[in-house]
Amino acid sequence: MKLDERLALCAEFVREGVSVADIGTDHAYLPVYLVKSGKTENAVAADVRPGPLENAKGNIVRNGLESRIKTVLSDGLERISPDEADDIVIAGMGSELIIRIIEAAPWLRDSGKHLILQPMTRAEELREFLCRSGFEIVREKACISCKKTYSVMLCAFDGRIRECDDRYMYAGELYNDKSPEAKRYIYVVNEKLKKKIRGCEIGTEDFNRLSALIDEFDRISSEQSERNGE
Ligand SMILES: C[S@@+](CC[C@H](N)C(=O)[O-])C[C@H]1O[C@@H](n2cnc3c(N)ncnc32)[C@H](O)[C@@H]1O
Repeated sequence: MKLDERLALCAEFVREGVSVADIGTDHAYLPVYLVKSGKTENAVAADVRPGPLENAKGNIVRNGLESRIKTVLSDGLERISPDEADDIVIAGMGSELIIRIIEAAPWLRDSGKHLILQPMTRAEELREFLCRSGFEIVREKACISCKKTYSVMLCAFDGRIRECDDRYMYAGELYNDKSPEAKRYIYVVNEKLKKKIRGCEIGTEDFNRLSALIDEFDRISSEQSERNGE
């Protein structure tokens, strides 16, 4: 069974041998892959809607994994207990929803738990939330799937409140990543910032901040292009 690049990157960040919960599992591709590949013994596949959970059950049964993957109808982690999951994957949702799910589960504020987060929108809001809530982005990687660019973050709670400047909000750990995927991610983010700045009045604080950020992202994009001989 092969995962697309986005879910494959989520799977890469899961620790070997720990219990996993996939929140918003839909088809349960990720937990099925993790158990079948031997990376995970047991998993929980959770979804808030009965339809997707039925999809998940069907896929789990087709793969003969009913005894290893438990399905749960749950809003976020509401119906999942801390002893059921060490690594928690929340992928394919908007940042606002991911933040709500994390806030509603205080037991995630435990350094032994790993969060693997893959926001579909407004990743900058998620990074800002993580910084001000004591979660460290331990690793972050970008990937390209179906011509779209995604970021996947591996996070853990350490209680330290971090400053989150504009650069970190928009690029996170990808700023120092020299991979073509990270470069592409920053390029795409910068194109969105260029659209956003058109709505700002010249000379305002917002305009000046955005303008400085765009210049910085333009500079690192061109430096990397030169390094790659493009
Ligand atoms: C776009 S799918 C993502 C599926 C898979 N995680 C992936 O990344 O490919 C989003 C899934 O999240 C589920 N979902 C939305 N809100 C949720 C919540 N509050 N708790 C659990 N699942 C939720 C939806 O029902 C849907 O199945």
